[in-house]
Amino acid sequence: MSKITVTAALPYANGPVHIGHVAGVYLPADIYVRYLRNQGKEVLFICGSDEHGVPITIRARKEGVTPQEIVDRFHNIIGKSFKDLGVSFDVYSRTSSEVHKETAQEFFLDLYNKGVFTEETTEQYFDAEANQFLADRYIVGTCPVCGNENAYGDQCEKCGSTLSPMELKNPRSALSGNAPVLKATKNWFLPLDKIQVDFLDGYIHGHSDWKSNVQGQCKSWLNDGLKPRAMTRDLDWGVKVPLQNTDGKVLYVWFEAPIGYISATRELRPNDWKDWWTGDSQLIHFIGKDNIVFHCIIFPAMLHLRGDGFVVPNQVPANEFLNLEGDKISTSRNWAVWLNEYLEEFPGKQDELRYVLGSILPETKDSEFTWKDYQTRVNSELVSIFANFVNRVMVLNHKFFDGKVPNSNGAYDEKKNTCRIELQTCLNQMKLALDEFRFRDALSELMNMARVGNRFLTETEPWKSYKESPEYAADALNFSLEICANLAFASEPFLPFTHQKLCAQLNLLPLEFLVQAFWKNAKLQGPLPAGHELSEVAHLFSKVEDEVVAQQINKLNAMKADMVPVANTSQAESGTTEQKPEIQYDDFAKLDLRIATIVAAEKVEKADKLLKLTLELGVETRTVVSGIALHYSPEEVVNKQVVLLANLAPRKMRGIESEGMILMAEAADGRLVFVSPAEVIGSGSGVS
Ligand code: 2FM
Ligand code: ZN
Repeated sequence: MSKITVTAALPYANGPVHIGHVAGVYLPADIYVRYLRNQGKEVLFICGSDEHGVPITIRARKEGVTPQEIVDRFHNIIGKSFKDLGVSFDVYSRTSSEVHKETAQEFFLDLYNKGVFTEETTEQYFDAEANQFLADRYIVGTCPVCGNENAYGDQCEKCGSTLSPMELKNPRSALSGNAPVLKATKNWFLPLDKIQVDFLDGYIHGHSDWKSNVQGQCKSWLNDGLKPRAMTRDLDWGVKVPLQNTDGKVLYVWFEAPIGYISATRELRPNDWKDWWTGDSQLIHFIGKDNIVFHCIIFPAMLHLRGDGFVVPNQVPANEFLNLEGDKISTSRNWAVWLNEYLEEFPGKQDELRYVLGSILPETKDSEFTWKDYQTRVNSELVSIFANFVNRVMVLNHKFFDGKVPNSNGAYDEKKNTCRIELQTCLNQMKLALDEFRFRDALSELMNMARVGNRFLTETEPWKSYKESPEYAADALNFSLEICANLAFASEPFLPFTHQKLCAQLNLLPLEFLVQAFWKNAKLQGPLPAGHELSEVAHLFSKVEDEVVAQQINKLNAMKADMVPVANTSQAESGTTEQKPEIQYDDFAKLDLRIATIVAAEKVEKADKLLKLTLELGVETRTVVSGIALHYSPEEVVNKQVVLLANLAPRKMRGIESEGMILMAEAADGRLVFVSPAEVIGSGSGVS
């Protein structure tokens, strides 16, 4: 039996994970791994935090802390959320670990010694004042495609073009604001152009079994022709380049992050990790669509060039993106349902989230999560179909048969056989779908099985037949319990908490043996033995009330509001300013802008982004809640003069009425900077 290594994309440790990540990567990966384990296959499920990369350094700068502090914080938060959601990683490692550093450096050196890299001296932008080379994200300038003046060196977020820093017009450093200078530097490149011909063309074209979205993206990269890509960068946060005279250089994050899968395997299995990466091992990467090129082209090229028996990925079932309430999920706009918050606010309701997300996975195209849909799916599927069936069966058994499995006596043989055929068909479809990474379809078969049960119960009405002909009730309930047990087995990969609860109610033992008997050949299991004692009835799911939906929608809107109580440019990613439509002078004249002095400031409880400010406006004092707490401490802002939009309709935030909005400018690296008069003037002075 060959070993199977399943990896889930290493999340960046620069923020918590949200439901988009869960639906994109972690839930399908977990369903798949549980499905494999249930068949008794030898599988390792690998993940960990991706702790390098420029976004982490940007967040650290914004918060005035070290990158290590950022990744320590989020590594713990993310790891705990996965565990609480029941994502069953065998290891959740991190790329700032020693074992990773060693593994990545060794991998680099091996390729270096094999003469794989080309050494190239290129001119890179350098910030003379900050005395450092600038990562692409630290260079801003005018987009050559759409003219956006705040495009990044790697991408314009207004028009979506992929850019290189050299293409930007009027480049400036996000660190100092100065124009950067070009400075020569040596880096090591992976000659992807050559590897395309030698290996990648054949590798990709040989994988017609990959999902069409994955195939499509890969072929488009190949058609455009691959170019050599630098595998080292001039940065100080990352895994140091293991060569002499390379101070200030680290391995490219997309070189070392996938090696993180190997490091994590090494951490878990120090003695036989190699067996999981060589020979006839299968390698399967679960990722989001933005990671396709790295997992289907660059990492396979690295593994192929490494040789030494290393396998290349067999499958890369990448998903598209999940949207939220009609809008793209956005970390910087705080438009997200954060997994850690969901788990705190909905204790014990992991399977509700797993079910809803599992039903809407963005497998072939982007999909959409709404709280209303969450409510509908929980109430009309999990509660009304699944839980209702199980609950009726359990309650009736306790009532009529003293909580013991009644005899099967042939009363409903014909009906039961029809149902068994239907249930086995569901199971066959489920297995087929799981084998083809169609998890939505697989999950819908679980609910279809529960539907069969519900219909059988409704048609046989044991609560009615019990008085007149108890043998009919016995046969009906015996078979209903058989369905419950099969539902318990079938739900394991999708709803592991429900699986546990249901198995406990049915008192199913030895569990692992029973589950494997079900999954190994995808075979429906027969009746429970008559007289088998059932445990107490327990509710599986409860209704989601309208207030809960309303609360969550309000919370989302409030979170969004937390991001805009400062008039800091746009809703685009930090540092960019979207152009707005032209307005007339009258529109501008409606704004009552005044100079105000901050006389007191304090943090707002349970809102890490908000400061409550008291502003002096000459004749009056105002309270303003402002989203600047990640950028300024209360002490730093007292006595500052600011510009206040004084006639903005008051709005309540975290229970505090905010009477206006202060203007802030957003620097290209995301810092918020006060807009203040050039000299101290009287509070209350008008601005026009
Ligand atoms: O896109 C991301 O979130 C990356 N941190 C994924 C890395 S996957 C792997 F290569 F490590
Ligand atoms: Zn552009």
